[in-house]
Amino acid sequence: MRTQVGIVGAGPAGLVLSHLLHLQGIESVVLESHRRDYVEQRIRAGVLEQGTVDLLVESGVGDRLKQEGLVHHGIELRFEGTGHRIDLTELTGGKSITIYAQHEVVKDVIDARLAANGQILFNAEALSLRDIDGNPSIYFKYKGVTQELACDFIAGCDGFHGICRPVIPSSVLRVHERIYPFAWLGILAQVPPASDELIYTYHERGFALLSMRSPEISRLYLQCSPEEDIVNWSDDRIWDELRLRMATRDRWVLKDGPVLQKGITPMRSFVAQPMQFGKLFILGDAAHIVPPTGAKGLNLAVSDVRVLTRALVDFYKTGKKEALERYSETCSRRIWKVQRFSWWMTSMLHRFQNEDSFSHNIHLAELDYVTSSRAAATSLAENYVGLPFD
Ligand code: APR
Ligand code: PHB
Repeated sequence: MRTQVGIVGAGPAGLVLSHLLHLQGIESVVLESHRRDYVEQRIRAGVLEQGTVDLLVESGVGDRLKQEGLVHHGIELRFEGTGHRIDLTELTGGKSITIYAQHEVVKDVIDARLAANGQILFNAEALSLRDIDGNPSIYFKYKGVTQELACDFIAGCDGFHGICRPVIPSSVLRVHERIYPFAWLGILAQVPPASDELIYTYHERGFALLSMRSPEISRLYLQCSPEEDIVNWSDDRIWDELRLRMATRDRWVLKDGPVLQKGITPMRSFVAQPMQFGKLFILGDAAHIVPPTGAKGLNLAVSDVRVLTRALVDFYKTGKKEALERYSETCSRRIWKVQRFSWWMTSMLHRFQNEDSFSHNIHLAELDYVTSSRAAATSLAENYVGLPFD
């Protein structure tokens, strides 16, 4: 089997890459170790930056997103029992964010690829990469048989635990990492969201977030210890804790409802550089992880895809390799700005271990500043809706 770009992983990075390449007349094959229904149902984040929405719509996979996505013009920061609205649209000259679950994006792009006779092999696990400096190929297991996919380039879109990043020699690869001493306990609940907009709450007991998936489904998160066992969190305990942390002076009401799904996610910031070696390029979670407080994971994956697509188009149309050679460097500036923003939101809104009254007052002062200074609020807003592309 042979193709131009061999893609490992059918998450948002691999799928959007294969879709954009197809629109430019570049062939690819996507290998995905899981089943189709698994990747289409995996519950992940759900906030799309303006630029991500524009890219999906302009590339023809935005119809359902436009119909079902919830466009938001602001977010609330809540602390000391009071909410403060950050007017994203007013502060950014008209931009907004859209709530649309990641697995819905995945479904839409899979549909588009299959409708265009695109090749996505599900249940196909990549085992090893060969000759990434010369004539690269991917060995993979499909229907019990080991096969070879020869290609011009390999795109490692195989997530944090994938096989592609470790192929870059450890003498070359630098890893920058921060592991936070807390995690998020997330639930999906069958109850209309208690607010039209997202609410990020700082409380002495820890962070809490109200988000949503639709007018009927809420998504809520609580800061907890990374060692926490989900079995110790009954639905009632989760709702009680959310009510405690999100309570307001004017008695805001959080109604509960059936919990459809719950889980604990550890939090880390991670960047691996360079994101290329020979003819291998890594994208998305394979190259970087952000803590979810800035809602950036999927958006950052899509921005890597944008850079690599442009570089591959340049190569195939003109033979020029410069943009490919600069792929990692080009991605890096945005990645670090997004890392900074995600780390800052995380630090402002969470309780670290053994925080004293000094730290608590610093959290409050920062939140007070961000919600009362137009300059500070504008900085948050322009990062939250997504920095411009250069
Ligand atoms: N062979 C084939 N597929 C693989 C292999 C392998 N050896 N290893 C991993 N995969 C697949 C996984 O099954 C998964 O479907 O690669 C895919 C990686 O997808 P994601 O983890 O969704 O990563 P990415 O596409 O970079 O998307 C980033 O996902 O985790 C969220 O918050 C993150 O929103 C961000 C987005
Ligand atoms: C979500 O809806 O899952 C969500 C929203 C905002 C975040 C993180 C996750 O910052």
